[in-house]
Amino acid sequence: MHFQWFPGHMTKAIRSMREDIKLIDIIIEIRDSRIPLSSENPEIKSLANGKQRILVLNKSDMADESETRKWIEKFENDGIYTVAINAKNKNEIKKVKSLIDKASVEKKARDLKRGIKNRPVRAMIVGIPNVGKSTFINSFAGRASTKTGNKPGVTKGKQWIRLSGAGSTPIELLDTPGILWPKFEDQRVGLNLALTGSIKDELIISTDLALDLIEYLDEMHPGLISENYGFETEKDSVRVLEQLADARGCLSKGGEKDLDRAAFLLLDDFRNSRLGRISLETV
Ligand code: G4P
Repeated sequence: MHFQWFPGHMTKAIRSMREDIKLIDIIIEIRDSRIPLSSENPEIKSLANGKQRILVLNKSDMADESETRKWIEKFENDGIYTVAINAKNKNEIKKVKSLIDKASVEKKARDLKRGIKNRPVRAMIVGIPNVGKSTFINSFAGRASTKTGNKPGVTKGKQWIRLSGAGSTPIELLDTPGILWPKFEDQRVGLNLALTGSIKDELIISTDLALDLIEYLDEMHPGLISENYGFETEKDSVRVLEQLADARGCLSKGGEKDLDRAAFLLLDDFRNSRLGRISLETV
C-alpha cells in the first residue's frame, strides 16, 4: 500500500483520531519489530497524552528475536507497556489482552470507587500504513467477537468489537484503526520503510536500496550474503550486486549484468525473510 501524505490528510487524520481518543481508555500502537523507531508516528506521544498506551511490536516473526527482546526492555524501561507479536497468529493476541488487563488496573480501580463494576475497557489501534493494523484487528476479532454499534451511548457509525479480556474485564476495540504518517522527512526512515516494503517510494531507486541493504548486512551480519548466495563477497557493495547478478543469471539482452533485477531479487528475498530474521534497527 502506498500512501501519499499531504498536510490536508494529516490534519484530517489528527482530527479524527482526537475524536476517537475521547471514546477510549487505551491506545494500542502498532509498529514493525524490524524498525521500531522508523515505524513510529512523530505525533503519537502528544496525541496519546493522558491515555494509557500499549506498544505492539508486530511482525516479530520477521525480526531478530534477541534484538526485539532488547527493544521491549528499552520501551518498558521508558514506562511503556510493550509486547512483540505476529498478528497473523491468533494465539499471540492473548499477549496483548494480558497487557490490556495490566494497563487498565487504574481505570478499574477508579470505576470501582464510583460503584461501576465490569465496564468494558475501550481501546483503539493506531499506526502508520502497513504495520499490520487490519491483520491485528481481524485476528483479535476472531469468530467469538460480537460487534456492537448504533446503541445508546455508542457514537453513531462507530463499531466496537467486543471480547472478553485475559482476566474478567471485557474489552471493546474500535473496529477501524487510526492511520497516521511516518517520519518521512528523515531519509533513514524512508530507506527503512522502503526496505521493509512498507512504502513503495519511487524516489528511492531499487539499486540504491539494495546497495544500502548490502552495506547494512555486511556490517551487522557479515557472511550472510555469501552463505545465502554461494559466493565469496567482495568488499565493495556495487561489486557484490554485480556478483549477485552473475550468480543468479541476471543478464540483460546484450549480455550485460542487470543490476536492477539483481537488486529486486535481493530485496524480495529480504522482504520475505528468505535471508532469515533481520532487524534493521538495533537498540
Ligand atoms: P495495515 O492495516 O497496518 O495497513 O497492515 P495490514 O494488516 O494490511 O498488513 C500489511 C501486510 O503485513 C500484509 O501483507 C499482512 O499480511 C502482513 N502482516 C501483518 N502482520 C504480520 C505479522 O505479524 N507477520 C508477518 N509476517 N506479516 C504480517 P500483504 O503482503 O500486504 O498481504 P498478504 O499477502 O498477507 O495478504
